[in-house]
Amino acid sequence: MSTALIILAAGKGTRMNSDLPKVLHPIAQAPMLAHAMHAGRALDPDQTIVVAGHAAEAVTAAVAEIDETAQVVLQTEQLGTAHAVDQARAALGDFDGDVVVLYGDTPFVQPDTLERMIKARASADLVILGFQAADPGRYGRLVMAGDTLERIVEYKDANEVERAISFCNSGLIACNAKLLFELIAKVGNENASGEYYLTDVVELARSQGCSVTAVACDEAETLGVNSRADLARADAVFQSRARAELLDLGVTLMAPETVYLSLDTFIGRDAVIEPNVVFGPGVTVESGALIRAFSHLEGCHVSRGAKIGPYARLRPGAELAENTHVGNFVEIKNAEISEGAKINHLSYIGDASVGKRTNIGAGTITCNYDGVMKHHTEIGADAFIGSNTLLVAPVKVGDEAMTATGAVITKDVEDGALAIARTPQVNKPGRAQKLMDLLRAKKARRDGGDA
Ligand code: UD1
Ligand code: MG
Repeated sequence: MSTALIILAAGKGTRMNSDLPKVLHPIAQAPMLAHAMHAGRALDPDQTIVVAGHAAEAVTAAVAEIDETAQVVLQTEQLGTAHAVDQARAALGDFDGDVVVLYGDTPFVQPDTLERMIKARASADLVILGFQAADPGRYGRLVMAGDTLERIVEYKDANEVERAISFCNSGLIACNAKLLFELIAKVGNENASGEYYLTDVVELARSQGCSVTAVACDEAETLGVNSRADLARADAVFQSRARAELLDLGVTLMAPETVYLSLDTFIGRDAVIEPNVVFGPGVTVESGALIRAFSHLEGCHVSRGAKIGPYARLRPGAELAENTHVGNFVEIKNAEISEGAKINHLSYIGDASVGKRTNIGAGTITCNYDGVMKHHTEIGADAFIGSNTLLVAPVKVGDEAMTATGAVITKDVEDGALAIARTPQVNKPGRAQKLMDLLRAKKARRDGGDA
């Protein structure tokens, strides 16, 4: 069965008190919207349509980054959830498979829950996702008769008996596309909010003899985000779930609650993550790598057997091959570090390539930026870069070459050469003592003068 996703994301999110539209606020370093879209991928949808309204331009740009095949349609006025879904009608054209409606501000729905909704479609024309609410608050209430969902009553429109129901509407719905749009065309707005309620399709479907049922999920999956406090809670929920998943996959987290993960963090089996490590977006750590305490990684790739940190910073474009070592207070940006290379202390390696087994001494800096442009540094294999070398890019250091400690390298160094680029040392016998005497006398004169 082919499937299409419609993701509602036109709302403003007033309670976020923000210039950023609600669905673009990040959870685990990815826009909230990306979480719902990721979950939807489990259904292998033929089409994904995002309904945007508030800050549509920003939402459109974000959608393109998350999934370039997704389409954005506009809902210029927010007239209700049925009206929002209706905006996808033209984009779906003749599509006759199942439509699943998700909310952009409900990030935690699980892929297998969506699969259960699609399975339930085998025996019902319309499937709603419901949950038992600890505090039903203002959610729509599901009025059941056995396995049949009779109707959904919005809180504002509900009577006392209906308000006592704790089985609530998550907002998610699965239905054949043709049927759904046929039903939506009949939805009116005579209700307490004057909105076109998507929930009205339940009664409309029943009145024309269609079967309607509800699938239940855990309340945690339907957690919506309406405020900054909700956002912080949502991030915490994401973190504890993602950590548990990594532990299940065979990753060692020495102090799981101190490791911060992103939506797309990938860590292989038998990797070890020490306490207080932050994974920004776009990080892949392969099996058996060791990430030591207080390291910060984003947009980088760490291969098998690599040892990173403690206190290392890997920035976008850091490509670390197998068995590389990157030690404390080392920053690497847009640089390829080849197999077995070591950069163990206090260095900045940016816009560079480092050959196999090369050793970079403490305090080495690639001077990649001249104030206007960035330049590349190329260091060959089996090279030895002396401590406190400044590599003024663009510059090349050949295979098996060496730079002397404290060198300022401004010219290419050929293979096998030793480059010395520092002021020669001069020793002046007895001069230290004389200089000290001179300075002490000066101080005594000054102090005497003051008194
Ligand atoms: C909706 C449901 C309610 C359910 C609750 C779950 C209806 C009528 N009610 O209520 O039964 O318990 O969600 O959270 O469907 N949106 C648009 N365009 C619009 C209106 C809404 O894109 O014109 C989007 C919002 O941005 C949001 C989602 O649809 O992502 C839900 O809208 P919201 O206004 O939060 O609906 P609720 O009143 O919470
Ligand atoms: Mg809501």
